[in-house]
Amino acid sequence: MLATLDKLQEDALGEISTLDSLDGLETWRISFLGSKGRLKGVMPLMKDVSKDDKPAVGKRLNEVKTMLESAFDSRKAELAGASAPRPPLDITEPGADVALGRRHIITKTIDEITEVFGRMGFSVAYGPEVEDEYHNFNALNIPEDHPARDPIDNFFMGGDRMLRSQTSTVQIRVMETTPPPIKIIAVGRVYRPDTHDATHFSMFHQCEGLLVAPKVSMVDLKTTLFQFAKSYFGEEAEVRFRPSFFPFTEPSAEVDMKMKIKGKWQWVEIGGCGLVDPNVFEQVGYDNDKWQGYAFGLGIERVAMLKYGIQDIRWLFENDARFLRQF
Ligand code: DAH
Repeated sequence: MLATLDKLQEDALGEISTLDSLDGLETWRISFLGSKGRLKGVMPLMKDVSKDDKPAVGKRLNEVKTMLESAFDSRKAELAGASAPRPPLDITEPGADVALGRRHIITKTIDEITEVFGRMGFSVAYGPEVEDEYHNFNALNIPEDHPARDPIDNFFMGGDRMLRSQTSTVQIRVMETTPPPIKIIAVGRVYRPDTHDATHFSMFHQCEGLLVAPKVSMVDLKTTLFQFAKSYFGEEAEVRFRPSFFPFTEPSAEVDMKMKIKGKWQWVEIGGCGLVDPNVFEQVGYDNDKWQGYAFGLGIERVAMLKYGIQDIRWLFENDARFLRQF
């Protein structure tokens, strides 16, 4: 009898898993659990079971019955669910909005500037933001007693280390490891302990340029910056040099560009430049008789703020999506 029950259970469970309709399931119920079904059919065999075995066989009989009943219930729930009518799908309904990210306005400006200089043949160089005084000052011909070294104007980190205050450091790093000729720009963060206000921030970005070739003049420098201004600010943009002084260039100039601000063309100071000072070439071991160079440094925030009419530098670094989303 136990073997008969085992076989019955196996058949029933095997069959129910293949059923795919409620009608089929009803037929299954009748054939296994119905009043003339196979389970009922085994009952009369009980009388032939010995008295000792009766409790165990009876228990098994109940077990098979419960198992088939619960298999029936759960299969029924599955099949009913699958055939329940679904709400019609409206494929014309607009989907949920995807939140699109975007580049930060400074990143975008850097990409645009890099693109313009890239078209003129400049490649991009990088240098560390944690620098040493040698690369930030000495090698750039900035003497020990120069006011630019004042602790009030620099983030000194103890020992020889400091956060770079200018990207001119990258000029030195590139020339130390690369023989001339050189044609690079270096874009990145610089740090100065300024009190934050609408036009000052303790971290900002610069774009440094360096060209080293056998013969280089102020004309080459001005032409390059002129072409940059035209491509970046528009055909009517202009460049003006004002004589100035930087320890690492001789002669040196402040760079002004004429750009359109709120519909009006205006002169704006955006950086410094000059011909590489022979002392700098000496520091990196370049032969002053064979090589000449020009260098320039532009303030990225200044460019971006003027181009997009941003009045407060702090807005750039507050990560307020309402501001950033506008660009
Ligand atoms: N490093 C200068 C600054 O931070 C900017 C600068 C001026 C860079 C003249 C140059 C240069 O390469 O030739 O104020």
